[in-house]
Amino acid sequence: MGNHSNVSEYYDLEGEIYEADAANAEYQAPQNFVTEIKPFIKNANMVLDIGIGTGLSSLVLVSEGKQVCGLDLSKKLLIYAKRRKPANLILGDLTKPLPFRNSSFDLVASCATLNYYNDIGKPLQEMQRITKAGGIIAFTTSKTGLRLQTPKRSIRFFSHNSSYLEEHLDEADLILYTDILAHLLEGKQIYYSVYVFKKWNGKN
Ligand SMILES: C[S@@+](CC[C@H](N)C(=O)[O-])C[C@H]1O[C@@H](n2cnc3c(N)ncnc32)[C@H](O)[C@@H]1O
Repeated sequence: MGNHSNVSEYYDLEGEIYEADAANAEYQAPQNFVTEIKPFIKNANMVLDIGIGTGLSSLVLVSEGKQVCGLDLSKKLLIYAKRRKPANLILGDLTKPLPFRNSSFDLVASCATLNYYNDIGKPLQEMQRITKAGGIIAFTTSKTGLRLQTPKRSIRFFSHNSSYLEEHLDEADLILYTDILAHLLEGKQIYYSVYVFKKWNGKN
C-alpha cells in the first residue's frame, strides 16, 4: 500500500516540527480544506477525522458545532491533539478495517493523510462503509506525485485522479474537486487536491 511504517516513524519523530510549522502558518492545509468543504457539511453532526494529527482541521469543525471523533496512527500527535481537546481520540490505522459500524458518520473527513499511500482502494471503501446514506466523504490527496525533500524531512506524496477515486467510492457521487495551497516549505508552495463525495441516499 505504500509508506506505512515510514509515515508512523516520521510523525512520531517529527511531531514538534509539524507543530511548529502549523504555528508559523507554513502549514495551511487544515484551514483551507475546511473552508472548501464547508458548503457541503452544513447538516453534518457526527464527524470522523481520519489522520487527525494535532487536531487542526477538527478544531475548525468543532467551532462549527460538529461532534468530532479523531483517529490517528501517531501516539505523539495524539498527545498534541489531546491538548487541543477537539474530539474523542482513537489510536488506529486507516490501512486496516476501521473500528466503526456501517453508517456511523454524517461526514468522514481526512486532510493531508491519504497522500502518503499509493493504493488507497481499501481505505476509501471503509470510509464509504462508515458514512451514512446521504453523508459526505471529504479528503485531500497530493495535487502531483512528489518527494518532499528538505533538510527537515523526506517523504513521498502520492496523487490520485478522480477516476481512480470514483472507482473505489462506487456508492457516492463526486460533488467537488478543487486545489488548495497546503504548505509553504522553504520557498516551495505545495498544493493538495480536495475531493468531496456524497454517498447515495438510497433513492438513487
Ligand atoms: C500531515 S498530517 C495531517 C494531520 C491533520 N489532518 C491536519 O491536517 O492537520 C498526517 C497525519 O496522518 C496520520 N496518518 C498517516 N498514516 C496513517 C494511518 N495509516 N492511519 C492513521 N493515521 C495516519 C499521521 O500520523 C499524521 O497525523
